[in-house]
Amino acid sequence: MKVLIIGSGGREHVLAWKIKQSKKVDKIFIAPGNAGTAEVGENIDIDAEDINALADFAGKEKIELTIVGPEAPLVAGIVDEFSKKGLRCFGPSKAAAEIEGSKSFTRDLLKKYKIPSAEYAVFTDAEKAKEYVKEKGAPIVVKADGLAAGKGVTVAETEEEAVKAIEEIMEDNKFGEAGAKIVLEEKLEGEEASYLVFTDGESILPMVSSQDHKPVFDEGKGPNTGGMGAYSPAPVVTKELEKQIKEEIMIPTIRAMKEEEKEFRGFLYGGLIIKNGKARVIEFNARFGDPEAQAVIPRLESDLIEILEACMNGSLKNQKIKWSNKACTCVVLASGGYPESYEKGKEISIGEKGEGQLVIHAGTKLENGKIFTNGGRVLGCVGLGESIKESIEKAYDLVEKVKFEKMHYRKDIGKKALDRGEVPTGGL
Ligand code: AMP
Ligand code: GLY
Repeated sequence: MKVLIIGSGGREHVLAWKIKQSKKVDKIFIAPGNAGTAEVGENIDIDAEDINALADFAGKEKIELTIVGPEAPLVAGIVDEFSKKGLRCFGPSKAAAEIEGSKSFTRDLLKKYKIPSAEYAVFTDAEKAKEYVKEKGAPIVVKADGLAAGKGVTVAETEEEAVKAIEEIMEDNKFGEAGAKIVLEEKLEGEEASYLVFTDGESILPMVSSQDHKPVFDEGKGPNTGGMGAYSPAPVVTKELEKQIKEEIMIPTIRAMKEEEKEFRGFLYGGLIIKNGKARVIEFNARFGDPEAQAVIPRLESDLIEILEACMNGSLKNQKIKWSNKACTCVVLASGGYPESYEKGKEISIGEKGEGQLVIHAGTKLENGKIFTNGGRVLGCVGLGESIKESIEKAYDLVEKVKFEKMHYRKDIGKKALDRGEVPTGGL
């Protein structure tokens, strides 16, 4: 079959890399893709948010399965548009993607169905929001309701910081319509982990746990980014905790979405915070995580296409899945200056990679046979090992083999796992 993957990041490259291994797939297109996806399939110069052009392309090329990487096209309704044209597109409908597209929708849903989360309030009026900040005090979290490219959240340590964030969102319209509503919520303390599942709207098929590293500098310092690295499994997610996550969070959420007539099919990403052996929801994403995908997908031994088809056909309950016992770590190499301003167009040299090492491209582009930087997050160096420690060593060994001007990366990816002590990787 012919497959189209939408997006241009590391997540899309690792999905393409995995899908290439499926016996069911003859050809992969990636729109718009990067220099890495060009090695796996054919890049198509269509923007990930140009739904009409994507649907035209899928129709003309007789694409049998389209997989959507980023959230924006999902929230804009790409799955509904494709389905109107008789095209199969993996991911949630527009209504179901609200779980990521509207933070107030999700907080209300979690409250209604008693799913562990945070205390919160929703505002459309800046003055009322500021009064709430005075009443509750700091720390407090300020969130634009809609999509804000990962920049809509301020964890305010002081009341002044919270008021400034409210003004930027509601009065200066920093995020446009996405900030017409805001959510103010309790700051949750604990360790974050990502828990993703495949779902057909009824059943879930859990993935192995993972952990992202959002801040740009070591020890969690500096502004948040899309993610500077990830590893899997996350030892903070013990077998016991995994049971709670499934029974109290993931399954009830899938049931709640169905109950609300917003049946969710696709990758459901639970952004969790863990304290005293209990997980609570920070947020849900309606898609795969990036860079979580680069740490999770290399551990998948089953055919990914079979699993995606089971999600679409509603037969996930009978679907088996096999994960490697190896651990996997991805270290992101970024352009110096990211997540603020940075330069593009630096030539990248990549040395010979060894066993258990993968180079996953993100912001890269191919020009006359050479590879150049083309974004904030440039590449992911992935290492697979018998332990988390070995996977970290392999990933950093690969980092040594990649060079471009003003390259920046965190030196402590996976350190939290090592500090906590290893756990057996099987099953988690
Ligand atoms: P998001 O942009 O929704 O992915 O949120 C970005 C980050 O903000 C999360 O990964 C958390 O680190 C932090 N965050 C969001 N909500 C809360 C909360 N209620 N308490 C503490 N941290 C939070
Ligand atoms: N790694 C965070 C995200 O994909 O949203």
